[in-house]
Amino acid sequence: MSCFLCVGKSREKIESKNNSSYIEKKQSTISSADKVKIDMHLNLSVNDKSEDDSKHDQLSLDVKNLNLNDEVSTDGKVAKTFTFDELAAATGNFRVDTFVGEGGFGKVYKGYIEKINQVVAIKQLDPNGLQGIREFVVEVLTLSLADHENLVKLLGFCAEGEQRLLVYEYMPLGSLENHLHDLSPRKKRLDWNTRMKIAAGAARGLEYLHTKMKPPVIYRDLKCSNILLGDDYHPKLSDFGLAKVGPIGDKTHVSTRVMGTYGYCAPDYAMTGQLTFKSDIYSFGVVLLELITGRKAIDHRKPHKEQNLVAWARPLFRDRRRFSEMVDPLLEGQYPVRGLYQSLAIAAMCVQEQPNMRPVTSDVVTALNYLASQKYDPQIHPIQRSRKRSSSPGKSEGHRRVTSNDSETSDRSKD
Ligand SMILES: Nc1ncnc2c1ncn2[C@@H]1O[C@H](COP(=O)(O)OP(=O)(O)OP(=O)(O)O)[C@@H](O)[C@H]1O
Ligand SMILES: [Mg+2]
Repeated sequence: MSCFLCVGKSREKIESKNNSSYIEKKQSTISSADKVKIDMHLNLSVNDKSEDDSKHDQLSLDVKNLNLNDEVSTDGKVAKTFTFDELAAATGNFRVDTFVGEGGFGKVYKGYIEKINQVVAIKQLDPNGLQGIREFVVEVLTLSLADHENLVKLLGFCAEGEQRLLVYEYMPLGSLENHLHDLSPRKKRLDWNTRMKIAAGAARGLEYLHTKMKPPVIYRDLKCSNILLGDDYHPKLSDFGLAKVGPIGDKTHVSTRVMGTYGYCAPDYAMTGQLTFKSDIYSFGVVLLELITGRKAIDHRKPHKEQNLVAWARPLFRDRRRFSEMVDPLLEGQYPVRGLYQSLAIAAMCVQEQPNMRPVTSDVVTALNYLASQKYDPQIHPIQRSRKRSSSPGKSEGHRRVTSNDSETSDRSKD
């Protein structure tokens, strides 16, 4: 797999199969509604759904044809269209002080749209970026079909001339990444209960994508920067541009280019291009590890052996006595020992190398709902002895995205 730096900030996106264009020209057999179910003993059983059905699912068809109707409406849920002028007015013409961040798709602004009387986040597609129309269409279609309290709401979009903008509900606390990594001394650290609440909510969002959506969807981009936080740290998954309809019939995977973010991408998928629901479970395990340890999925500032979070964690998983070394020092010992063991056990299962050894989403949800319900109270529970981080934090490198699209190389790092 060849890799190259691409999209926004200093993110590396993974993509393989030597396609010359970021937009998939030749769609891999787009598949759809199957329900891959793996029971508690991890035996694979497939709930058949005919290929014919899948051929007619709207997400597959529209993505194939890059179709967007003026207003996307499914089951009464409507993603509105906005004019460019409306969105410019909402942000004071994309004024600098409305800028909230930037990713691979483009810049994000905070605005207020009068006609819907709502504060919104507006994402403007960067025409020079490598994410493009396909991501835009997939995002609109996926979120128009989705409706869950742990998925960010798409309020509408604008596709006027060359302009492509997405309008979301505004998430006042920003992304999980902002609360976990490179905190300024004055920023409040996340306590144990909040971390478990975020993990459980993210798992429920993922479960919805995997098991409740029709067709079921593989997210492919689960990471801390894509978990947005509402009031009271209510988590919602965002960024569905890489989402892929899951395998159908007796298929267990979708063959596709490898895309995602270093450090979060399952090794089996990265090596074979075979995407499964378990690829998302791996990414979830990485996020859970980040929540527990406070470490980044990839951190080039750390000593070589500690740069990859999963590689660092694997030997430690085998020795319970070393679990306390793994916990985020910023928790200052304020965590439940049993909860730490249990959450590490879940993370260890999720990041197993063999995809069929990873748990199904519903089991992850059950386990995390339980963990989140076990409230830790430092006034009652003993404070644990905590170890210092083994390397000093410096400036963030962020997570880099890579594609193997050799023809287009750009590093628009703004860090
Ligand atoms: N709905 C939203 N409400 C509030 N802030 C948002 C919203 N969507 C995105 N942001 C902020 O905008 C920033 C950029 O988000 P974006 O999703 O474009 O990039 P990213 O997730 O950081 O990177 P990548 O492109 O690799 O996914 C994030 O830091 C996030 O905090
Ligand atoms: Mg994002």
